[in-house]
Amino acid sequence: MTSRHFSIETIGIVGTGAMGRGIAQIAALAGLKVRLYDTNPSAIGAARDYLAETFARLTAKGKLDQARSLAALANVSGAHAISELVDCDLVIEAIVEKLDVKQALFRELETVVSGRCVLASNTSSLSITAIAAACSDPSRVVGYHFFNPVPLMKVVEVIDGLRSDPAVGDALMDLARRMGHTPVRAKDMPGFIVNHAGRGMNTEGLRVAGEGVASFADIDRIMREQAGFRLGPFELLDLTALDVSHPVMESIYHQFYEEPRFTPSPITGTRLAGGLIGRKTGEGFYRYVDGKQQVPAEAPAPTELPKSVWVSKRYPQAHEAVVKLIGETSGVTLDDGAVPAADSLIVVTPFGHDATTAAVDEALDATRVVAIDALFPLVGAQRHTLMTTPATRRVARDAAHALFASGGVPVTVIRDSTGFVAQRVVATIVNIGCDIAQKQIATPDDIDLAVTLGLGYPRGPLALGDALGATTILTILRNMFSVLGDPRYRPSPWLARRAQLGLSLTQRDAADIQPETQP
Ligand code: NAI
Repeated sequence: MTSRHFSIETIGIVGTGAMGRGIAQIAALAGLKVRLYDTNPSAIGAARDYLAETFARLTAKGKLDQARSLAALANVSGAHAISELVDCDLVIEAIVEKLDVKQALFRELETVVSGRCVLASNTSSLSITAIAAACSDPSRVVGYHFFNPVPLMKVVEVIDGLRSDPAVGDALMDLARRMGHTPVRAKDMPGFIVNHAGRGMNTEGLRVAGEGVASFADIDRIMREQAGFRLGPFELLDLTALDVSHPVMESIYHQFYEEPRFTPSPITGTRLAGGLIGRKTGEGFYRYVDGKQQVPAEAPAPTELPKSVWVSKRYPQAHEAVVKLIGETSGVTLDDGAVPAADSLIVVTPFGHDATTAAVDEALDATRVVAIDALFPLVGAQRHTLMTTPATRRVARDAAHALFASGGVPVTVIRDSTGFVAQRVVATIVNIGCDIAQKQIATPDDIDLAVTLGLGYPRGPLALGDALGATTILTILRNMFSVLGDPRYRPSPWLARRAQLGLSLTQRDAADIQPETQP
């Protein structure tokens, strides 16, 4: 390519399924001319009908004025042959997810379009560099990864292949903004940003379930109500469906050469084989009756309060928060002795350790030890998580449950786990986000933007780590790693360095961002 300026007014969309028609919708509404092409001619008609209905519905709801609706529809035309894409400034493919088929399409497109036409792929799992390698001009090939449903998921990843001209990506960043989307820029690495960052929640959620720590529903409740996510890992997997999620989990794991952070779980393979695929088949991790998720009810909390409670001072802030919580919610006596009295319930507040390790490290009577997760603020919490050692007696477990539920906040009691549920899932999410930054796949700001918009998390992984304290996240991971010896939990250097230096996880190296001044 010789020209480095790209004026994009006419777009070809090849593949008019779920993604192609969504992209067509936002492009036509932004005033771009859109040509639809699909090897299945009926898919083109179906996409036009769909767009006509969608624009009419938006108009009826008052979300779109009549004139704009008519103009948008008039912008869309069908192409009977691929040769009709000849005058396109950009062609976006959203066809079947197969490398050889996409390569063949791009080779064919090169014989049709002008030398100034940009070629973009909506692939979510293939390498842009590999697709471009089939082209005589790989510099004009980029990734343009939208999310489903396109009009509602207002983020798009712009992916530079190794030979992509940066000006091509720049032009697609501008175009995304014109279409009302937020673009983020990513390197050509497996999963790009969003599908890479999303490994934390589902693989760690599956690992918690696989260790027998808690039920699927309990893990979801904790992630929603305690950690503040919109959906827990199993609700999310039911929504995306295992026929999609399971192969993605395996593919990203293998593409990173069996990186332990991404290890999938045998749970999903078995459930997929058994047809427990998700919401769309009526049964996944939950059952669905008339489309409604069936959630097993929680057992009522016990009511027998402990007479006295001793709270570990190993983590002073957590000690203070637990004492405050107990003070607010019940009239039980606080045992403030250096060691617990013989009849006191013993509460520990580990970070990344299991209740057993906390009990042993602090030389406590494990039969009376119950741990509470104090990563998120306890006062004002929507849910508390408690866990027991294998030696904890039922009377201690139930007394702790009654105590922490007495203020009306629901409590989930789990089995022993390094990092409860929320700590380990959140720490894994932050750690993977940090690794994406470390690998320079995207800027810290783009990582957080992509994750909040693409995954609907309340905060991006780096901002989440900052909010909870980078040193706390580092402690959780180091402790998990020391107990389990599993390299999955080794802290990302991005996290470890910034936590130790007291820097924000969103900060790039200072030398890269500060203006040059005399030392
Ligand atoms: P889809 O199955 O709904 O639509 C694909 C369309 O492409 C069909 O109409 C088919 O007839 C047509 N097609 C297949 N091969 C073709 C060829 N060689 N030339 C022209 N047309 C061809 O698929 P969907 O869900 O729209 O996905 C399309 C692409 O978008 C895939 O690459 C997928 O990985 C990617 N993607 C999908 C997302 C999703 O959630 N569905 C999210 C992000 C990316």
